[in-house]
Amino acid sequence: MQYGHFDDEAREYVVTTPRTPYPWINYLGNEDFFSLISHTGGGYCFYRDARFRRLLRYRYNNSPTDVGGRALYIRDGDDVWTPAWMPMKSELDSFECRHGLGTTKIRGSRNGVTAEMLYLVPLGETAEVCRLTLTNESSTVKTLKVFSLVEFCLWNAWDDQTNFQRNFSIGEIEIEGSAIYHVTEYRERRNHYAVFGVNSPIAGFDTDRETFLGLYNGLHEPEAVLEGAPRNSIASGWAPIGSHCLEVELAPGESRSFVFVLGYVENPDEDKWERPGVVNKEPARALMARFSETAQLEAAVAELRDHWSSLLEISTVESSDERLNRMVNTWNPYQCMVTFNMSRSASYFESGIGRGMGFRDSNQDLLGFVHLVPERARQRIIDIASTQFADGSAYHQYQPLTKRGNNDIGSGFNDDPLWLIIGVAAYIKETGDFDILSEEVPFDNDEANTATLFEHLRRSFHFTLENLGPHGLPLIGRADWNDCLNLNCFSETPDEPYQTTANREGRTAESIFIAGQFVYTAPDYADLAEYMGFAEEATAAREHSTQMEAAILEHGWDGEWFLRAYDFFGNKVGSHECEDGQIFIEPQGFCVMAGVGVDDGRALRALDSVAERLATPYGIVLNQPAYSRYHVELGEISSYPPGYKENAGIFCHNNPWVMIAETRVGRGDRAFDYYKRIAAAYLEKISDVHRTEPYVYSQMVAGRDAVREGEAKNSWLTGTAAWNYVAIAHHILGIRPEFDGLRVSPCIGAEIQNFTVTRRCRGAVYRIRVTNSLKHDGPLLKVNGETTKGTLVPYAPAGETVDIDCET
Ligand code: BGC
Repeated sequence: MQYGHFDDEAREYVVTTPRTPYPWINYLGNEDFFSLISHTGGGYCFYRDARFRRLLRYRYNNSPTDVGGRALYIRDGDDVWTPAWMPMKSELDSFECRHGLGTTKIRGSRNGVTAEMLYLVPLGETAEVCRLTLTNESSTVKTLKVFSLVEFCLWNAWDDQTNFQRNFSIGEIEIEGSAIYHVTEYRERRNHYAVFGVNSPIAGFDTDRETFLGLYNGLHEPEAVLEGAPRNSIASGWAPIGSHCLEVELAPGESRSFVFVLGYVENPDEDKWERPGVVNKEPARALMARFSETAQLEAAVAELRDHWSSLLEISTVESSDERLNRMVNTWNPYQCMVTFNMSRSASYFESGIGRGMGFRDSNQDLLGFVHLVPERARQRIIDIASTQFADGSAYHQYQPLTKRGNNDIGSGFNDDPLWLIIGVAAYIKETGDFDILSEEVPFDNDEANTATLFEHLRRSFHFTLENLGPHGLPLIGRADWNDCLNLNCFSETPDEPYQTTANREGRTAESIFIAGQFVYTAPDYADLAEYMGFAEEATAAREHSTQMEAAILEHGWDGEWFLRAYDFFGNKVGSHECEDGQIFIEPQGFCVMAGVGVDDGRALRALDSVAERLATPYGIVLNQPAYSRYHVELGEISSYPPGYKENAGIFCHNNPWVMIAETRVGRGDRAFDYYKRIAAAYLEKISDVHRTEPYVYSQMVAGRDAVREGEAKNSWLTGTAAWNYVAIAHHILGIRPEFDGLRVSPCIGAEIQNFTVTRRCRGAVYRIRVTNSLKHDGPLLKVNGETTKGTLVPYAPAGETVDIDCET
């Protein structure tokens, strides 16, 4: 069942009923200011950091769901309704929400009045702007009252939800004209405030939640609106809100638009006050002046549209499969931008309070983002590398505002360092910016202790080598990619976090995943070492990789697939000898991607085992059989009920590794088949089962052991976005930048017969026409009409267009 449809031309998903199976959201904002907005207008916004600079309060895990943030009420005579459907769940004559690239437009009508709200964060602004257009479609004059509503968060979202003994006494507000200023804590250490204004005179306002709603009322029954009269309340403590009341008279057929601005404003410390006790509002007035006319807002919309068009034209595909086109051309890169911006911090499943930017997550997010805005990827690499320790290990997370490593979680996730090499290699392949390797970058943000970025990579690589276990395989530490495989944790106390508790110190638990990751990383690392003039290091790296490969084949092969790990006691994890958890997806994907076992048939065997044991119609589950009881020696993985999350859920993030691995052994049909099982647009028709947005990936879909098989959770902020982009664009469609040229090597099976890719890279444009007849052993290329050897097309000078014909 569907709840909307794609509008490919407009690059929008059109939700046609408010009753979707879960709130379907969008992200507004590009760099510093971000909003989450659901199809019924729920959500919240923040400046840079979802924890420390949050403007709007949001109520998680609530009933009803998706309450908080912003709302808009219309009073038409005695009839009060909410055009976004929530919070009043008004019966609407029509409803539509269009989630586009950085814009969300929600339209509802009732009794001859249509209200359309267009939300965006304009480029370069730290504000969410909303154009409200009211149209009288009836034959009589309409006299309306419109009430806006936002509920302010007292900045620190964690504190806001916990510290009521303080918070109920600190809320402060100022009013000037049609603008409401949220100035809580501005009197002391903050130099920022929020402003909520509208470009029209108002009939009144409210800023105190209790006065506006009534103490015992919800957002669906605000007393001020129901009674039709704003109270002009000034909050003092308790819960500050912002609500304007507009009186609007509309002749039959008449439309009027208003622009609301919800902004974040900072003042220099020496310029905080206009006069004693009165906040300096100059920058806020200037902000509102930039949107005092609807034409200014329309210009901002056009600018944003052009911005996205120029980003998306960097890599496009045209094929006969419209779902493939819309994923590759629009929604997958869009999600990659969001994961780059948010890491795993703020979504409808991530509270924005707990986690900052993940070291491994952000490095992987780069893979799908780097071609969009390479300069930002560069800065991100420097930020991430700055949280690495001098011994090559790394903070697992850091806070985006301070860019400091997060001490609560610390380090000890032994896969982390290698991801830095993978991220940097991807950046250099895309840009050719080898100079980044010579940048001086601090360890642990200590400017007194710096080294070149290449030296950081060297320490990453050697960290693995310095931390090998009894079988010559990498020690797992607290966990590897699979955060829930905690082999040194041994937790029997419910209040201990699995990731940061190590009840046993040992150097025995080893990860075949990290071993595969090491072999995958080594060729790029060696090439970079060579580039830097460290020939010996390059040779040594290749030798270490050969040794690691040998260790995997000797100690990491179970007969039909790659083992997952050795636990604290040296027992196998992911072996046919195990009671549960006999086979895991991660080492099959990563070892084959790295080329392990490709020459001797083990790679094929491992992938066949994946197909036989792990593949399901909804995607490939993480392990089988699911753990049916808690294994103290394995940690969190066995704490989940069977079929969910890391315990045999379809953890989508790792599915693309198997897709890429299938292309490594030349089985494009299988790769594309797996792709279609999890790619969002292909799931639109089963939205009732899948539940999350049909335009983005979710982290997890319940596996076949789960009670609710096929149901997705945790949409948006997942490494699936980047990796599935890499799988489809780089390996299945087969166009990928390498250090010395653009690789053209499609591997998509028989289903898609012809397709064209246009790829911009290092300033040149490559137009690649693929005739996928599958007649030849490998792809045959003609570059600008000339037959060439191999599949690597040397980079053309910037400004040139290269025509490539590829026959398979
Ligand atoms: C984390 C990733 C991790 C994955 C698998 C996600 O929630 O953000 O870092 O690799 O889970 O455990």
